[in-house]
Amino acid sequence: MTTSPAALAPAAPTDASGAAAVFDSLPPLSLYVHLPWCIRKCPYCDFNSYEAGPAGFDEDGYVAALLRDLDSELPLAQGRGLASVFIGGGTPSLFSGPAIARLLSGIRERLPLAETLEVTLEANPGAAEARRFAEYRDAGVNRLSIGVQSLRDKPLARLGRVHGSEEAARAIELARGAGFASFNVDLMYALPEDDVEGALADLAGALAHEPPHLSWYQLTLEPNTAFERKPPPLPAEELVLETERRGRALLAAHGYLRYEVSAYARAGLRCAHNLNYWQFGDYLGIGAGAHGKVTLPRDGVVERRAKTRNPRTYLSTAGTARAVAVERIADAGQVAVELLMNALRLLDGVPVALFEQRAGQELAALERPLREARARGWLVDEPGVLRPSAAGLEVLNRLLALFC
Ligand SMILES: C[S@@+](CC[C@H](N)C(=O)[O-])C[C@H]1O[C@@H](n2cnc3c(N)ncnc32)[C@H](O)[C@@H]1O
Ligand code: SF4
Repeated sequence: MTTSPAALAPAAPTDASGAAAVFDSLPPLSLYVHLPWCIRKCPYCDFNSYEAGPAGFDEDGYVAALLRDLDSELPLAQGRGLASVFIGGGTPSLFSGPAIARLLSGIRERLPLAETLEVTLEANPGAAEARRFAEYRDAGVNRLSIGVQSLRDKPLARLGRVHGSEEAARAIELARGAGFASFNVDLMYALPEDDVEGALADLAGALAHEPPHLSWYQLTLEPNTAFERKPPPLPAEELVLETERRGRALLAAHGYLRYEVSAYARAGLRCAHNLNYWQFGDYLGIGAGAHGKVTLPRDGVVERRAKTRNPRTYLSTAGTARAVAVERIADAGQVAVELLMNALRLLDGVPVALFEQRAGQELAALERPLREARARGWLVDEPGVLRPSAAGLEVLNRLLALFC
């Protein structure tokens, strides 16, 4: 059910067919901050991002709006401090160091965040400079995520990227040189007019920089993008499968452990923020189009919130009920499905105890689909954990459909 616009609505009555969830404790709380501007809109991108244009954007006004937004969300923290912060976009690295410093100190004034906890900022190689990276680090950012996509000029041009291969490689080295505790490199494969060797050359090129973390995404044609309207020629499915098989072997040979469908990390360097999403932790979302998810034990519901997408509307309404749509999920079955849609993306899956705590119900409620998933060999038959098998990961959507 969606109510929009709305402030916190009273708990909805439970659907007659569904039991209510019972939450005895709160999961960790993260914070997502959305900065929506980019130099240019990439033709494959369906994120809530907008070209800044020659007039630029109101950096100070936006930081003030974000903090008003956060103020309005503080009751949802329910006494918790933050376990991680992720500043995503858009292209957050278009923001100046002092703006990010004001943002982070404003966040810390409102919600406790230990110095050692993960604070990530996304950077585009077309908007990357040494001084700015050092300012982000001094402001408290301790992890960068760099949108490299490819390390070859032709594929980058076909993707409409604002940077070439040299800038991409330079951005990785700037991140390393600036002394961040960790950093991530985003790469995509199955690119227009590309082949297996090209994709593997990108991976090998990225691995030569030894990033602590690597996200390797298959390019998808998303609705309402330029690529959907005019699709480029993409590699055939058997080439994509070969790319994945050989690419994963290359990553493993270099010591990168695959821990989620598209995420690979050196030991101890997984992304804490994304892990909290996948383990059905809570998160506040501030910024244009940002999403949040919070457990409300008193009402026995999971609440989802989405902020208004248009940056101009957001600037004028942030912190008021007009900027937020609220959805309350009261049906235990739906909560369980949403948890599994996240947790079964993880190669380790989810311990049964964690499932029961975060879904607010006993696993026994899912007995029938679980039996079916095990019978098909899509879940590993292991006590105390719900873990997808290799075959289950290959058909993740069909596996999840069993629970819907
Ligand atoms: C929100 S973007 C932010 C990164 C930054 N704006 C940039 O592009 O440099 C996060 C990542 O999602 C991936 N991504 C975006 N659109 C995609 C698509 N259609 N298919 C696959 N991956 C996509 C890209 O690897 C991108 O770096
Ligand atoms: S730079 Fe990133 S967020 Fe911006 S349009 Fe391109 S892919 Fe999307």
